Amino acid sequence: MGTANDPAASFDRSAIAYEQLVALNRAGSRRLVAALPDETFARVVDIGCGTGFATMEVVARGGVREVVGVDPSRPMLDVFAGHLAAHPAVNADLRAVDAVSAGVADGWADLAVCTMALHWMPDRPAAIREMARVVRPGGIVALLAPGEGHDRPTVDLMHAAGPLLSRLGDSIVSNEITLGWLSGVMASAGLEPVDTWAEVRERAVPPDSIADRMDAVATHLWDDLPAPQQADVLTRVRTAFRAAADPDGLYRYRFVKTFAVARRVA
Ligand SMILES: C[S@@+](CC[C@H](N)C(=O)[O-])C[C@H]1O[C@@H](n2cnc3c(N)ncnc32)[C@H](O)[C@@H]1O
Repeated sequence: MGTANDPAASFDRSAIAYEQLVALNRAGSRRLVAALPDETFARVVDIGCGTGFATMEVVARGGVREVVGVDPSRPMLDVFAGHLAAHPAVNADLRAVDAVSAGVADGWADLAVCTMALHWMPDRPAAIREMARVVRPGGIVALLAPGEGHDRPTVDLMHAAGPLLSRLGDSIVSNEITLGWLSGVMASAGLEPVDTWAEVRERAVPPDSIADRMDAVATHLWDDLPAPQQADVLTRVRTAFRAAADPDGLYRYRFVKTFAVARRVA
């Protein structure tokens, strides 16, 4: 369970709504899994698994027999368990712990995935080393994260809106995982690149839908404030998105994602 100023606390609150609000995460996981080598992954570890988008995509490919899901947010794991219940042949072990504390045995997994979670982890290199450790030699590590220059329109909007809303802008910038950084850390963790790429996509959305998304993933940024002030900040975020909408009523933003598929050196 998340604590104050802890990203997992946002996800504790949003676990049910999360699935509707971050459909784009699911699409990213699908593209990551589509890029995996054409191999069978019988044992999968999903670090920062949340509700299990990535693992469920791997399960849909077939051949998965055992899954370890790692996420400090128990409510997210509960939603994941619901999805896995439709696949009784898959043996699942969902652990409500930090990325580096799951204690999976060295080389246990054929595949370790981490989608849209690395950026929330306090020690990102340690999380990548952990993924490299838990896969067998020749096994695959697959990562999806916010990329360089992610959502600049929103960063600029929040920075222009005063110190409290600036926290959201700062968080988006600090969440960026650049290709160069990721390649370097993966190499030093003993991972050889299979494919590493970035994608840029533009979206035009109702401003309230992006505000709802922020409610789902970023409320921990204001956990130090008394509850009425937190509610006020979220209202101001919503107002800022509405005011920045184009004449057609839609808010336009650009999101960037970093993808990496790598193999543990045999
Ligand atoms: C945006 S969600 C992504 C979930 C899922 N992987 C997906 O693709 O939808 C980020 C997840 O990271 C988890 N998380 C935050 N801090 C973490 C940590 N230190 N170790 C592992 N997971 C963490 C959160 O609880 C949340 O479920």
